[in-house]
Amino acid sequence: MTPCREGRYADPNLTELELAATVWLDGFYQLEHLFNTRTWAVELSMGQASPELRFAALTHDAERFFPGGPSDTPENGFDNPDYLFAHSIRSADIVEQWLRQQPRVEEAFVRRVRALILRHEVGGGWEADVLQAADSLSFLEIFDWLTVDWVRRGIYTHDQAREKLRYSLERIRPPLAVKLALPLYEAAVNTLASADTLDVDLKWRRQVAGSRRFQLGLG
Ligand SMILES: [Fe+2]
Repeated sequence: MTPCREGRYADPNLTELELAATVWLDGFYQLEHLFNTRTWAVELSMGQASPELRFAALTHDAERFFPGGPSDTPENGFDNPDYLFAHSIRSADIVEQWLRQQPRVEEAFVRRVRALILRHEVGGGWEADVLQAADSLSFLEIFDWLTVDWVRRGIYTHDQAREKLRYSLERIRPPLAVKLALPLYEAAVNTLASADTLDVDLKWRRQVAGSRRFQLGLG
């Protein structure tokens, strides 16, 4: 048996509640994005990220795992408030409902996580701005394959997929995050530019992105 390398998101600071949430969301193709958003939120907060911010980062897109929500490939632009609000409210509702089923979770925690998830697309206040920026940094860093997938499947044209990358970059507010995002943006744009020729197994890529076992490096 091949020895197992530690997963990128194995982190002794993950709380029991956070680990339980990753069990809940295991198999979701955005699981890697959620882990990665949490990592960026911690980095942008210089180690001062609150437990609520970390948890909100780890779950902010949860609704997309459960059928019945708005399409995750909107037709009317990525900055369409109808889409952004529907997505954010549904995620906040679903995460709140899950949190209320967990033992020993304080009311103030639930309310703060809900408020942050509601704001994750639009920012507003320092922590929500950090969450929004972390979400963008994560999209640019690890979802370049998704833009290639969109183009290959004919969901978006090259230009439309590129618009998503630009939107992700331009909505970032904290100056440090903008600086960190620029090289990621450039790399993602280059990956997208090679969408027709890039040698990547997108089915496998989607699978590992959703695998808790892979992301945490669990044997
Ligand atoms: Fe996200």
